[in-house]
Amino acid sequence: MKVIETVAEMKEARADMGVGVGLVPTMGGLHEGHLSLVRRARSADGHVVVSLFVNPSQFAPNEDFDAYPRDLGRDLRLLDAEGVGVVFAPAVEEMYPPGFDEWVEVRGPLTDRLEGAFRPQFFCGVTTVVARLLRIVRPQRAYFGEKDAQQLRVVRRMAEEQRLPVEIVGLPTLREPDGLAMSSRNSYLTPEERQAALVLPRALELGRTMVECERVRDAGKLKEALADCIRREPLARIDYVAVTDYETLEELTAIDRPALLLLAVRTGATRLIDNTPLTPHRSP
Ligand code: PAF
Repeated sequence: MKVIETVAEMKEARADMGVGVGLVPTMGGLHEGHLSLVRRARSADGHVVVSLFVNPSQFAPNEDFDAYPRDLGRDLRLLDAEGVGVVFAPAVEEMYPPGFDEWVEVRGPLTDRLEGAFRPQFFCGVTTVVARLLRIVRPQRAYFGEKDAQQLRVVRRMAEEQRLPVEIVGLPTLREPDGLAMSSRNSYLTPEERQAALVLPRALELGRTMVECERVRDAGKLKEALADCIRREPLARIDYVAVTDYETLEELTAIDRPALLLLAVRTGATRLIDNTPLTPHRSP
């Protein structure tokens, strides 16, 4: 496995690969969810490049950039065991050289709402770094997890707007045996908070049951029931409970089409997000 630290070397290595390149962009702190993206890329693409880069521009000054889990040795061992060909692990100055001014932004409701409302700098940071990675690595496919459902849709829109010739592939969220979505940030949780965090998968399950078994179609009623369920957990604080159109993430009042239920909840100091599709069956 080749570990590359500079943009120039990455471009040189890419020139030898031809077509059939898959990119898995990550910030390290790898878990099974990341490895499932790597495995899919390995099965679909001749060459797999995994990037490890904790991107400062997507964190606000009060967020967890400094605390974000960094263990390059462990990440490299995991990727080597998966048979990854190239790891791109640049320093900040490589991705953001002095005078860097190539910010890439998707504007409009897709980025203003939900995560965008709580983390105003987040999507511009993500689209800038992903666009830069796509221009350096020039993959035919790039892989992202559905756990970050809004990020996935924003990255897809960015690739279209920038006319980047890449397929953005979204893959299902991987969960711990008790239902908690895998996330690098789970490592911040104390044992008590880890237990409290189970309120997220519990609320998602309640949402699915209400829509798919009890045929609830009133999004307001659904959100109220889920907010009540989350509020019963003393360590949990809600940032949002949202019911949106599955593709556009426009807020719904009636659940009358494929929808997405999205949650952002703080457990102690840790902010967790999760989501589930809602499939309303037609009335007979
Ligand atoms: O989802 C992530 O880990 C990051 O937001 C990404 C896509 C690697 C960009 O830094």
